Amino acid sequence: MSVDEAKNRILQRISLPELIGEQIELKVRGGRHTGLCPFHDERSPSFTVFDDHYFCFGCRATGDAITYIRETQGLSFMETLRYLAEKYGLEVPELEKPNFDKSARLVEAQLYKISAEAALFFRENLAKPQSEKAREYIAGRGFSPEFVEEYGFGLSTPEPLALVNHMLKKGFAIKDLITASVALASQHDQRAYDFFINRLMIPIADMHGRVIAFGGRSFGDDLPKYKNSMNTPLFDKSQILYGLHRAKESIRRDRQAIVCEGYMDVLQLSQAGISTSVACLGTALTLPHLRRLGALTPHIYLVFDGDKAGRNATLRTVNIAMEVPQAECKVVVLPPGDDPDTFVTKYGADAFRGQLASAKGLLDFAIETRIKETHDLGIPELVSKEIIPWLQSVKDPMSRNFLMNRISELTGIAVGGMQAALLGETPTKKAPPKMMPLPDEIPAVRTVTAIKGPELELFGHLFWSRPDELDINQLRHMFESQLELEEVWLEFAREIMKALEKALSPSDQNKAFWMTGSTPEVLDLILGLEKTKGAYETEFRQRQLDKLLAAIRKRQLDDTAAKLKQKLSQSSGDEEMDILMAIARIKKEIMHIDNPAKRPAASP
Ligand code: UTP
Ligand code: MN
Repeated sequence: MSVDEAKNRILQRISLPELIGEQIELKVRGGRHTGLCPFHDERSPSFTVFDDHYFCFGCRATGDAITYIRETQGLSFMETLRYLAEKYGLEVPELEKPNFDKSARLVEAQLYKISAEAALFFRENLAKPQSEKAREYIAGRGFSPEFVEEYGFGLSTPEPLALVNHMLKKGFAIKDLITASVALASQHDQRAYDFFINRLMIPIADMHGRVIAFGGRSFGDDLPKYKNSMNTPLFDKSQILYGLHRAKESIRRDRQAIVCEGYMDVLQLSQAGISTSVACLGTALTLPHLRRLGALTPHIYLVFDGDKAGRNATLRTVNIAMEVPQAECKVVVLPPGDDPDTFVTKYGADAFRGQLASAKGLLDFAIETRIKETHDLGIPELVSKEIIPWLQSVKDPMSRNFLMNRISELTGIAVGGMQAALLGETPTKKAPPKMMPLPDEIPAVRTVTAIKGPELELFGHLFWSRPDELDINQLRHMFESQLELEEVWLEFAREIMKALEKALSPSDQNKAFWMTGSTPEVLDLILGLEKTKGAYETEFRQRQLDKLLAAIRKRQLDDTAAKLKQKLSQSSGDEEMDILMAIARIKKEIMHIDNPAKRPAASP
């Protein structure tokens, strides 16, 4: 039986409202379970849980029980299956094979034991009288003895067989020590030696806090400065973030994650009271890393050392970030010569928080960095040689469109020029990409409020509707004279209504149709809607729309009434009277909305 079948078996047995209800408070409203969304900040509930999936009308998070657990607990897919199987006491023999056959499980169990035992060995060694030098080094870096104890710092010995011999005495097998990356087989004499020799040892834990690997810092100038365990069946650098086990609760609570370059940074920040930081372990940030963080918070700060920022804030990182759209990645560049460790030691935690506050969007940062670094290459060349090939690697046309618009704003290259280049019309000498007139000043930022809440739901229903489900005249009336929408969204609504009038379902319009003339915001919305079709399946389209339109109208009336009331305190005489009348009219309309039965009947 395949993993897929195992997954289905698990999903069939789970009641999603029950599972999610254990973690957040769900209330039944209009036959649906709703609550405050765990994936974004909100005060009124737009997170809706159906029997087999959830959907948030605020942030569009969607998924099934597996996604939910993965994202809220930060577990991998297989970890989630096992978690759910165990939780519900389900027999899922498939999970034991082929990747999880018995012998592999036995080896894993052995590797956990070895890692734990090695951690203990290193800790005890650090406490020995002859380890004075190492303790001085640690104290010199500002770590207190309590901190060293809590974080399990240790010391590997200068003797190249100390750990191996210790482990053999404990009954572990050489081949398992090698698999665990605490020993290394010598090419010369077919013997195994300690992997870490005379280094400050920092244990690396998995999501459950179990030691699975080590980072070893040399003292003084020995090279390499750091030696990390090699990948093992327990330790995959592309998956593991240093410190995530300790940080995950704070990350969720404080709604931010800080990604540093080194574990010393994480340790120093925690000691300074900043508990939301993690570090990659000698690899660049990967998609699994970002998924794990994105599951815990939408706000992710990538903190780069001043001198290395350009190397690290790459277009590839932008690609990765686009795969995790719910997370917003920002970049912090520390002053040249500083890393989080030295910065927080010199200037303190508040100064570090100040740096976070001035973080910049990842895409903008990456593009701007490329522009700065390539002063020898003109901007048009940069765009055609680097950015266009990169855009070609972005598969999703909507995302591509969004990127092009932003890049155009940053570089002054017209979107049309990029589109032509993307379509293979490589810009020749005769037709170089057109430069837009460069603005004298930084252009005013166009602010379009993202659509959310009932408005989002409304557009979702419109987008997925069929022409025969709706009363277009009524809709037109609502959009043109009742709802207060920003022009961008109103335009989108008009396009939708045009399609409906031509007896086409808006979702059946091809992408090219939506891409011409649409703004990035609208494209982004369409992209989201395409991913959440299930949330808009209903037999009662018009009724859903009526409810949503009423809710939106009512909220707008409430807002207006509140504003009028404020104005009331500063007015008198006739004006006061007018305002009171206006408020009374609004109240009446709100009452009508609440009790539609009293309204002159429109349609059944
Ligand atoms: P850095 O060179 O920035 O070190 O490497 P650092 O974190 O500032 O450390 P200190 O303050 O000098 O002690 C950042 C990360 O890159 C990996 C390690 O994971 C390290 O935490 N690295 C670095 C290696 O794996 N090997 C190396 O030789 C150097
Ligand atoms: Mn450092």
